[in-house]
Amino acid sequence: MARIALIPGDGIGPEVVCAAQEVMRAAAQKHGLDVTLDELGLGAERYLRDGTTLTVEDRDRLVSDYDAALLGALGDPRVPDNVHARDILLGLRLFADLYINYRPCKLLVPALSPLRNPDPATDIVFFRENTEGLYAGLGGSFRTGTKDEVAIEESLNTYKGVERIVRAGFEHARATGRTRVTLVDKANVLAHEGGLWRRVFAEVGSEFPEVERDAMYVDAMAMDLVRRPQRYEIVVTSNLFGDILSDLAAQVTGGLGLAPSGNINPGVWALFEPVHGSAPDIAGKGIANPVAAVACVSLALAHLGMEEAAADVDDCILTSIAEGVTTPDLGGDATTREVGRWMAARLLHAASG
Ligand code: NAD
Ligand code: IPM
Ligand code: MN
Repeated sequence: MARIALIPGDGIGPEVVCAAQEVMRAAAQKHGLDVTLDELGLGAERYLRDGTTLTVEDRDRLVSDYDAALLGALGDPRVPDNVHARDILLGLRLFADLYINYRPCKLLVPALSPLRNPDPATDIVFFRENTEGLYAGLGGSFRTGTKDEVAIEESLNTYKGVERIVRAGFEHARATGRTRVTLVDKANVLAHEGGLWRRVFAEVGSEFPEVERDAMYVDAMAMDLVRRPQRYEIVVTSNLFGDILSDLAAQVTGGLGLAPSGNINPGVWALFEPVHGSAPDIAGKGIANPVAAVACVSLALAHLGMEEAAADVDDCILTSIAEGVTTPDLGGDATTREVGRWMAARLLHAASG
């Protein structure tokens, strides 16, 4: 029995979560799984209605009553500073201490890559630190609104925080037979945090002698993710660099419409969400690609121990692309809803066949 909270959120969030939900129900039905899905109305609408973002009750209920959550996206042009998105998303990451942001970027079909000669073996997993760095909210703004304004954002890096994400990266390498872990930082300039990350990387890495250690500066890494993305297997990096590089790697492997992520505190709680945002430019048009959200369903099922159902969902994603049942970002003419329905029907059809 698994209880999953659905947080459709804003923009294309409800569209892709609706499709993902159909696929999740079909996968559960096919595999005889007892999965309960409850929808929670967190997001811009609620904030604009009553000023509420994430109450203590919402937060406690989510983490204690549900095994995991699936979130669509948060961000709405009517909330210019996106306070609700920060409160809800960053709030949950911090409250449940979801320190791993697991972001796999695998090239499913070479033709989806914008690169001229994509390597079909391209398959990168980002371990983005998810609770510290420049996201810690440290700093302040002084003489705000004057010509003497000063704005400071400080990057928080703790030994504990760095050690646990680096360890997660190496453990994943060991568990999956990957042979190299790459640390991405800016240690040539950000010497304080760089020193800590590099020391911990060497220390933890020495416990995994079978795994090659590699370090890249973030500027060179941005270049290399375009030049030879196939070189990278597991990337461990800080919160902001991971945010930026995972969008880049998502595009290199087919686009934001395909990239899922998990915010995970192993053994405690997890929240799955596409790497993409609320895409206000295409919201309401029915053309958002639901694959990233459906891939989140697969990550969630696997995380909850339902590996066979997860593999079936992955298979369904591959088949939909192979058969051209795709939204316009991948060159097809299907709607978000049609892609979801097609996948759900395929799962159930395979069950009876
Ligand atoms: P975005 O990811 O929403 O969109 C970037 C581009 O990718 C847009 O052109 C969009 O149309 C396209 N795109 C994104 N997802 C797509 C999909 N599933 N199918 C097809 N095309 C897709 O990034 P943005 O425009 O910078 O951000 C919009 C809002 O989303 C902002 O408020 C931002 O803060 C928020 N955001 C939220 C999350 C989240 O909730 N996890 C993540 C990123 C951004
Ligand atoms: C992401 C998003 C979030 C982040 C925003 C919406 C707070 O971009 O999950 O990648 O920066 O972490
Ligand atoms: Mn992002």
